[in-house]
Amino acid sequence: MPKTPRITRPVVMIGLMGAGKSTVGRRLAQRLSIPFVDSDDEIKKAAGCSIEDIFELYGENEFRAGEKRVMERLLDDGPMVLATGGGVFMNNEIRSQILDRSTSIWLKASLDALVERTSRRGGRPLLKTGNPRKTLEKLINERYPIYQKATIAIETDNETHESAVELIVEALRDRDDI
Ligand code: S3P
Repeated sequence: MPKTPRITRPVVMIGLMGAGKSTVGRRLAQRLSIPFVDSDDEIKKAAGCSIEDIFELYGENEFRAGEKRVMERLLDDGPMVLATGGGVFMNNEIRSQILDRSTSIWLKASLDALVERTSRRGGRPLLKTGNPRKTLEKLINERYPIYQKATIAIETDNETHESAVELIVEALRDRDDI
């Protein structure tokens, strides 16, 4: 197996719902022998309920405030692969901290791929709309211009989880600021 790059700060997974941030991130963490953390899981733990319940009981603004607190804490915690919820990188303050203090990886996927992948798992309040495809299309238009500020972009449509991990490892190996 090719040499593993030595990671000194968090590797942050960016992308829309269904992009594979958690699945690919978990495998990447194993490959790099560093811990894996999921920001949505940390928010759930802190709130003691599901993301859907947080949206329903406290509203999206409260969820976004929770995201910010969790990210501020985790970005200080040293090397790890950190999967984020799709909205995290859209917050100006959090984004500039991610860009300053971590290596960010955008998992890019087409609308068709995202529609297919998000249909396999529920629990996403933003997609509880009459037309999830339309919602995802709108989010692509709003978010992809911002996601492209990430350090590294990986096209995932034609990749398996394993091959996406290897593309990320190769991209990391080419850098000296990780
Ligand atoms: C969101 C994405 C979700 C979750 C929340 C909001 C978003 O995470 O944080 O439902 O704004 O895109 P995943 O991207 O892991 O599905």
